[in-house]
Amino acid sequence: MSQIDTASIKISRAEGSKVSEVDFGQLPFGRVFTDHMLVAYTQNGNWEQAEIKPFGNISIHPALSALHYGQSIFEGMKAYRDTKGNPLLFRPMDNYERFVKSAERMFMAPVPKSMFMEGIKALVSLDREWIPAVPGGSLYVRPLLFATDPYVGIKPSDNYCFIVFACPVGAYYAEAINVYIEEKYTRAAEGGVGAVKAAGNYAASLYPNKFRVDKGYRQLVWTDAKEHKYIEESGTMNIFFVINGKVITPDTSRDTILKGVTRMSVISLAKDMGYEVEERRISVMEVIDSLQNGTLTEAFGSGTAATIAHIAAIGYREGHHDLPSIDQRPISTALLNRLTNIRTGVEPDPYGWVVKV
Ligand code: COI
Repeated sequence: MSQIDTASIKISRAEGSKVSEVDFGQLPFGRVFTDHMLVAYTQNGNWEQAEIKPFGNISIHPALSALHYGQSIFEGMKAYRDTKGNPLLFRPMDNYERFVKSAERMFMAPVPKSMFMEGIKALVSLDREWIPAVPGGSLYVRPLLFATDPYVGIKPSDNYCFIVFACPVGAYYAEAINVYIEEKYTRAAEGGVGAVKAAGNYAASLYPNKFRVDKGYRQLVWTDAKEHKYIEESGTMNIFFVINGKVITPDTSRDTILKGVTRMSVISLAKDMGYEVEERRISVMEVIDSLQNGTLTEAFGSGTAATIAHIAAIGYREGHHDLPSIDQRPISTALLNRLTNIRTGVEPDPYGWVVKV
């Protein structure tokens, strides 16, 4: 390993690159990893120098408190190639701000902004050859923070580990998906941790999801914990409906819904493209009635991994409601095209979302 020390981040390069072994046309989501990762630890509660080093396993204590009690949070963002092949990050500061909120809610040590931003830029720059040059491809960047105290007792950990690794990816959902409106199980209740990216939120969704996956639905659509009457979000993404030509998405004011960076981007783009946008409570009955009377013409999820994922059909109780085919979805298609063009530098970015690496 050759060692290069920069002011804030130590860089230990891998001997060689595995990039030539990758088939960028056939990328399974989240299973291929780049050559390097960033790792930093706190010692006595203070962050030590972060290191970018060859990607590989880490050693952990069996009593690691994150494993037992779930003090673990993460983020997801993407890097793209611009038209000249240079790396661009999409809204990394928004991911950082949410990472800080997640850390605060889970009572964890926040990662300094410079370590997060400079660390991710350095990692993406070093592994820039891994950003797929194929349409729809991107480099998914995963920051992760977890508690490291070896202690079998309940208390906030004194020490933490921050890791960032990256995966070249294609589409998370290769085609439009079927979703099912869930009325028994709950993702998040008011006062809980639904608005942050806590690892346990995803673990808790797996069991309820299983019953619907068995019946041909890829994801659940969660409803509110109190009455199961209002739509919240879908498993891996926020959710949008187009009803009577209006773009409608559940509002996030009750802190039970993740404030998605792609969600915020879709709302801004839709408004600026001249669509009427409503962020408000949307009841299950409104969705079902609108499906039945044909005024609900498009539905899609939004997320970093999912980007804009068309919803093919919505299941509710014993009913199954097919939506119009993808070629009849002008609004979500236009939004996806605009978002893609901004993220890849094909169109100018009037919002300041895109960050050069
Ligand atoms: C993301 O979209 O970044 C997520 O964290 C969702 C996960 C299912 C990949």
